[in-house]
Order: sequence, then C-alpha cells, then structure tokens
Amino acid sequence: MGNFLAGKVVAVTGAGRGIGRAVALAAAAEGARVVVNDYGVSIEGGEPSSEIAQSVVKEIEAAGGEAVAVADDISTMAGGQRIVDTALARYGRIDGVVCVAGILRERMLFNMSEEEWDPVVATHLKGTFTVFRAASAVMRKQEDGGTLIGFTSGNHQGSVAQANYSAAKGGIISLVRSAALGLHKYGVTANAVAPVARTRMSANVPMELKEIGEPEDVAALVVYLLSERARKEKITGQVYTIAGPKIAVWAQPRELRAGYAEGAWTPERIADFLPGTVGTDPMPMLAQLEEMAAAAAARARPNA
Ligand SMILES: NC(=O)c1ccc[n+]([C@@H]2O[C@H](COP(=O)([O-])OP(=O)(O)OC[C@H]3O[C@@H](n4cnc5c(N)ncnc54)[C@H](O)[C@@H]3O)[C@@H](O)[C@H]2O)c1
Repeated sequence: MGNFLAGKVVAVTGAGRGIGRAVALAAAAEGARVVVNDYGVSIEGGEPSSEIAQSVVKEIEAAGGEAVAVADDISTMAGGQRIVDTALARYGRIDGVVCVAGILRERMLFNMSEEEWDPVVATHLKGTFTVFRAASAVMRKQEDGGTLIGFTSGNHQGSVAQANYSAAKGGIISLVRSAALGLHKYGVTANAVAPVARTRMSANVPMELKEIGEPEDVAALVVYLLSERARKEKITGQVYTIAGPKIAVWAQPRELRAGYAEGAWTPERIADFLPGTVGTDPMPMLAQLEEMAAAAAARARPNA
C-alpha cells in the first residue's frame, strides 16, 4: 500500500467493473477511503444489480482498505446526492469524485431512437453533472477544496455509429472546463480522462485499437490527478488520454484563423472570402475513415 491519497475520501462511479473498479482499488491501496458506486447494469444499461458495487467493497476490505457501496443510478439527482451524502455520513468529508460510469447504445444517427439517445446522454453527461453538482457544493466550503474528474473518450471528436456517446463525451469536456473555471477560486480542480483500456466496453469497438492498455494504467493517472502532487502543479481544465504506455494532453479549443469584413457580410461576400482566407480545419477522423475505406476497397480486389 502506498500513501499517495492518505487521509482522502474519494467517490468513484461505475466502480463495479472495468476502469472504475481499477480506480477504486488503486485509490484504496493508496490510502483513500472510497465510496464505490455502481448500478450494476449491462453494457446497454439494463438489469441493475447491487451486488457489483458490494463485491468491490469486499475486495477493498480484504486488502485492508476502507470502502462503502452505493448502488444508485447516477443519472438521477438523488443518486448523485446519495454518493456525496454517504461519503459525508461515513467519513465526514469528500476530497475527490471520479465519474467513470457509462453505457453504450450503438446505432447510426439516421436510425437512432429516443430510447437509444436519452439513457446514454443521461448516464454519461447528466451522471457527471449530478455527482459534480453535489460534490462541488461541499468542496467549495472545505478549506482545502477538492478534485473533480470526468471520463471522456477520443470519440468526443466524432463517431460513425455512436453519435449519442460522442455528444455526451464532448459535453463532459465542456462541463469539466466549466467546473475548472467556476470552482477555481474555491481551490477545486477539474480534469477529464480519455482512456483506452481492455474492458467489456472496449471489446465492443468495431475496429482494431492500435494503442490500448489495462484499467490499472488509467487508475494510476486518476490517482495522480486526485493527489496533492497534481494539485500543487495546479493541473485543472485538462483532458488527458492514457493508452497503455502513452499519456497525451489534448489542446484547448481556440479559434484557428480569422478574417474581417469591411462593411456587412452577405452570402456572396462570404462565398468569395471564406474558402481562401478562413478556410477549414480538416477532421483527422474523416481522413482516417477515408484511409480505412481505401484499404477495404484494395482488399476487396486483391489482384488489381
Ligand atoms: N474502455 C475503454 O477503452 C474506454 C474508452 C473510452 C472511454 N471509456 C469510458 O471509460 C468509462 C469506463 O468504461 P469501462 O470500459 O470501464 O466500462 P464498463 O462497462 O466495464 O464499466 C462501466 C460501469 O458503469 C456502470 N454504470 C452504468 N450505468 C450506470 C449508472 N447509471 N449509475 C451507476 N453506474 C453505472 C456499469 O454497471 C459498469 O460497471 C466509461 O465512461 C467509458 O465511456 C472507456
């Protein structure tokens, strides 16, 4: 056992499986007392079971750590509040929250139903809000602030068949940046992690992932971000990818190129001006898609 998080109280959502479980175990091994939240659902979000969270609590206790289970659905305000209330009732404070819980309902945009859109956005985006909302209300009043961590994905750049997931993951980045700005003066930091790790969820990705690691790699980054070492470096408002041996920081969104009109814009003036002066910023994922399509076409005619 290390002491990176000695004395801290940390809540982790989606902590029953995959990356969340690894984060909960690593945080406890580094001295944190942990609220283990998991609704215990299938990858699509059905068939809830409270045993999943409880089993991780048992694992932490067996290793000599301290933890408590909360089997609530974090897409509800009551669920987010219960996680924070449990930390306060059991351990008297909340130093960090890590919102890992997520589900997938894959469908092409033109076929996607409301039942495929709403629960995905509710679990990821609202499920990060409910916990950040409840935790930040306590953290802003604590002398030493706190740490908020959201989980996003490289897919926030866009996705062919997961527009719901991609939109929610993009929203999480904006929520994290808003939390970083809004809570800065209270000593609360907020960051996002975009992991690539072997879990039941990544087993669902239709293409081969060239850079991938284990949930334990992601857990190590999260423990660092929760620690005083990261807080001393004033790390906030950042998005980090961790994929096995690689850690990368994402750029902040900013205007790339601008042009100014003399007088009022008209569609005609814009048509003459925009392509040559302001132009576009090509999508890397679109280029990747085109490469994949070309490779598939080449495979389909091996003798050409
Ligand atoms: N695994 C990857 O490579 C990868 C890549 C990009 C992003 N992510 C993100 O990382 C996070 C963890 O993914 P994972 O691969 O460990 O998935 P996972 O399916 O193994 O675990 C997700 C957990 O969240 C729980 N959960 C779902 N809905 C919930 C709810 N409403 N309330 C509480 N708990 C709920 C599930 O029961 C499950 O235990 C997700 O946010 C995912 O989108 C993962």
